[in-house]
Amino acid sequence: MAGPHDVGIIGLAVMGGNLTRNFARHGLTVAGYNRTYTRTAALLAAEHDRAHPGRGCITGVRRLEDLVAALRRPRRILVMVKAGAAVDDVLARLTPLLSSGDIVIDGGNSSFHDTDRRVVTAGASGVTFVGMGVSGGAAGALYGPSLMPGGPKHAYRSLARLFTRTAAMADSGPCITYCGRGSAGHFVKMIHNGIEYADMQIIAEAQDLLRNGLGLPASAISDVFAEWNAGELASYLMAITADIVRAPDDLGENGLLLDQIDDVTGRTGSGRMVPQAALELGIAVPTITAAVDARLLASLPELRQRLARRFAPAPRPMPQRRAAVRAIGEAVLAAKICAYAQGFQLLAEAADVLDYGTDLAEVARIWKAGCIIRSEFLDEVRTALARAPGPDHLLQDAAFGRTIRRCLGGWRRTVQRATAQGIALPAISASLAYFDTVRRAHLPTNVVQAQRDLFGAHGYQRRDRHGRFSSSWSVASTTRRRPKGGDRHG
Ligand code: 6PG
Repeated sequence: MAGPHDVGIIGLAVMGGNLTRNFARHGLTVAGYNRTYTRTAALLAAEHDRAHPGRGCITGVRRLEDLVAALRRPRRILVMVKAGAAVDDVLARLTPLLSSGDIVIDGGNSSFHDTDRRVVTAGASGVTFVGMGVSGGAAGALYGPSLMPGGPKHAYRSLARLFTRTAAMADSGPCITYCGRGSAGHFVKMIHNGIEYADMQIIAEAQDLLRNGLGLPASAISDVFAEWNAGELASYLMAITADIVRAPDDLGENGLLLDQIDDVTGRTGSGRMVPQAALELGIAVPTITAAVDARLLASLPELRQRLARRFAPAPRPMPQRRAAVRAIGEAVLAAKICAYAQGFQLLAEAADVLDYGTDLAEVARIWKAGCIIRSEFLDEVRTALARAPGPDHLLQDAAFGRTIRRCLGGWRRTVQRATAQGIALPAISASLAYFDTVRRAHLPTNVVQAQRDLFGAHGYQRRDRHGRFSSSWSVASTTRRRPKGGDRHG
């Protein structure tokens, strides 16, 4: 085995394997361990067959003890195993082998609650545990991911020295930043994934409306997405969907691959954590929740088939192309702004309440490249968040305000059209309802307050004076009226 290695990686599946190769190509010496050695051997063999600068920088080890022995101190070990019990299992075996000052980094999509717990457990042995979001899928891991580490600042400095060169490069610099104290790294990645769910669902809804509402053929839809991708809606997800919608079936004779793909969605749970955290922190994220719900509803195919037979007909296309397509584009942009406003509001709350101290503009910056939600749009988000004093909600930003005003008519027409045709737009319409709620100075929740006071004496505040009030509601409640035929219960 060569001299002390810079970094250890545990878990050499797609993400861990590609990060290992990425690190090696950037001149880091890496010791890799996988539960089953066959995967390690396959990685080494594949690297051996390739001629590139990183060749020879990877050492495969068969035991965790060998991994620990191979590393320079303080050791830096990146764990890339499935979020959940597997991380605890690795930590239980690894921590007793480590020394005080060593750093273990979890690069999976772990729950921030789990990270908080692991910080304490590892800390008891003097080991620093860092939660780090890693985004970009297989290609990102290989060619440059967006990296979102949190935890103690000293650990970040130590990691940044190694990882910065391996991260994606945006026009504003490498896509790595200090996300904040404690479990901030995993919280930031969770928000990324919630926004990812929303972005994907919004584009899917636009596709549905273009196809089933306007009757556009796949090639035309692909062209629309490509056109949007050349403008203010430019993003990685828009670009790949332009290709997806026109891809021919690679197994069949004719037709589109998309038509053969079952609509039951896979999910590893990373997006679902956002509504859970949002409820815990008391922040509404209805666009993201709608995207999560859409996946849950998609996973009920039998029920949907039965109800489709019962409540058909399927939507009839109502062609009326140009203006309607433009309106859908406006709805997509406005809904996207709402999703980001919600995600960043939740992150701002966590930065405050959970004491992360996250720099929100920096988060927008490191999402500009490498990650799944990368887009031009993130420049505007960053600019808005960096303005001093920054808006405490993206909808308060003047530039986003102008965009929303410009898109509002098309957004409403799109939701109206879809509703008339019986095509659900869960994320786009949840965003509109969100906007129409947060822009109202007075909401009908005064009725809810009155109801609560009437039946529970919960009290309420008045608009015209200070203090807390409760009324003796002497209304002749219909519930007290005697039922027809007499009240048998007295
Ligand atoms: C990323 C992605 C990735 C996530 C997949 C699948 O940033 O690279 O967010 O981490 O695992 O997108 O997520 P779901 O299975 O929850 O759709």
